[in-house]
Order: sequence, then structure tokens, then C-alpha cells
Amino acid sequence: TELLTLAERMPKAELHLHLEGTLEPEQMFQIAKRNNILLKYHSIEELQAAYQFSNLQDFLDLYYQGMSVLLKEEDFYDLTMAYLEKVHAQNVVHVELFFDPQGHLARGIAFDIQINGITKALTEAEQKWGMTYQLIMSFLRHLSEESAFETLDLAKPFLDKITGVGLDSSELNHPPEKFSRVFQSCKDLGLKITVHAGEEGPPDYVWQALDILNVDRIDHGNRALEDTQLTSEILRRRLTLTVCPLSNLKLCVVDSMASHPIQKMLQLNLNATVNSDDPAYFGGYMNENYRALIQESNLTEDELYRLAKNSFAGAWLSTAQKNHYL
Ligand code: HPA
Ligand code: ZN
Repeated sequence: TELLTLAERMPKAELHLHLEGTLEPEQMFQIAKRNNILLKYHSIEELQAAYQFSNLQDFLDLYYQGMSVLLKEEDFYDLTMAYLEKVHAQNVVHVELFFDPQGHLARGIAFDIQINGITKALTEAEQKWGMTYQLIMSFLRHLSEESAFETLDLAKPFLDKITGVGLDSSELNHPPEKFSRVFQSCKDLGLKITVHAGEEGPPDYVWQALDILNVDRIDHGNRALEDTQLTSEILRRRLTLTVCPLSNLKLCVVDSMASHPIQKMLQLNLNATVNSDDPAYFGGYMNENYRALIQESNLTEDELYRLAKNSFAGAWLSTAQKNHYL
């Protein structure tokens, strides 16, 4: 339909994307082979059959297994470039991507190997297509505060390549306040802050993200809708929510795409955006997320434009760059 065509063609920014979540089964096997790594699964079909999740943790278990094939700078480069090529073809013109350094440091992969491979692909995409980008270093919340501080120390020589910091992995029992001192240090270093909150965790975790971490953005934020004072505060601060429809469906955060809260968020005037989270695991990239929403809801043309506009408004770009896109 016309709405689908509009969604596909309109320029968009992606603000919630985990690089390690773009590892497609084919590429996982290809990289495993050249690195002499034996995967637990014997075929692409067998691996894909395991992509059935009842909750966030089910997915994370596979996500950490999958990323274990990444060893060398060229692995990080190839992974990043494959993602950028896909979304460039979907009219994504700006990306802000997360990487999970602790998921690789734990396997002995040095910080410089990770970040050099990733930024090589990002700078090439900028030169080739004029695509703009920001890189976000995410802390794994199931690990300790000490581990997060160690990771921040390792990142210090590379802060010119990192715009902001995030917080991901298992949300329940790992509230934002666990990392209050880490994020204060990040703020002191001039880094932006966005954290996953209200995906599975209660509204109180979103409050903590606001009041203790003083976040610049919220990833997911679905459960903020359970608390009207909280939604008012998000609105008052004009905070962007990076919403991930297919992810929410696959991880059973919503019962169906038809009941997804993104339209409600827009009706409340919240700055909601559409993002893919971990596209290789959740069944699609940006345009597939838009398609799923359009097919299962009555999103209007105006709402589609607003979603795309919100993605640029919420991006960590200078006012001049934003105006260029808006
Ligand atoms: N939530 C939490 N952690 C994650 C996610 C997510 O959706 N994707 C990758 N790590
Ligand atoms: Zn995420």
C-alpha cells in the first residue's frame, strides 16, 4: 500500500540497534568457519529453529553465544558493514549503534580490536553514502559496577569515537541505580546517556533512569505507560523513547503487534521512534518493523512522518545536522 511505500522511502534514523544483534545466521557460520570456532548448532536451519524466545533472557543466552564468533578486527568490520549496507538500502541515513565491549573483553578480545573494526566501517559508510553515525558503548547490567568502571577505563583512549553510553542485558533485578556512580563518571566525561528501561522492568526502573542517572534518552520504555505521572515527566523532559516493535513481539513484551503501544505513545505526544534492536534475531530491520506496524495497526500517514521526525529529533546530532534532516 501507499503507507508501506512511504515508510520504506522516507529518510529515517535508527537509534536503538545492537551491533551484535545484526549477526545473521549465514554470517555467524561464515565467521565461525574462518576463525575455526565450532558452533553448538550444526546448520543455519538448526540455529534459526532456536530463535523462539519467551522472554529477554532466552534471547540473551543465544545472543552471547552468537557473538562469540567475533575475534578479529575484520570480524567487527564485516559485521558493521553488512548492517550498514542493509539499512542504507532501506533509506536509513543516520545510525546510532550500541556495542557491548564486555561481551568481547570476557573472551579476550581487546577494546581497540572491537572499536577499530566498527569505526572503520562507519567512516567508510559516511564517505560512500554520506551516512552519519554515533557510537554508543553499552554496559552489561548483569555484570558488576566494578566491571563497568574497568570498561570505562579501557574506553578512555577512544572517547573521541564514542558519543554516549548505554545499559543493556538482563533488566530484572539489575535496576539503573546499580550503576549510578558509573553513569555519573560518564556524565563528567561529557558522554550522553541512554539506558534500557521498562522493557521487562517496572516503571520504577524508568523513574531511576530519569532521577538517578539523568538520562538523555530511554530505550524501550514500554512500561512507563503504566504510570501517568511518569509519562508526564518523560513528556515534560521531551525525552525520546527508542521503541522496538518486532523485538517486543519476539520477546513477549507485547501479546501481538496489534496491541503494540507505539500509537498510544504518539497519541500521548511522547517522542516515540521505531527501531530494530537486534534485527538478525527478531525478524527484520527498520523497514520490516514499519511494515509490521502498518499491517497490524491503523497508523496514519501523519503518524508515520512523526515517527521519522522523532528519530531525527532524538538523535545525538548538532542542531545544524538535525535541521538538515528535519
Ligand atoms: N534488551 C536488553 N539487552 C539487550 C537487548 C534488549 O532488547 N538487545 C541486546 N541486548
Ligand atoms: Zn536493545
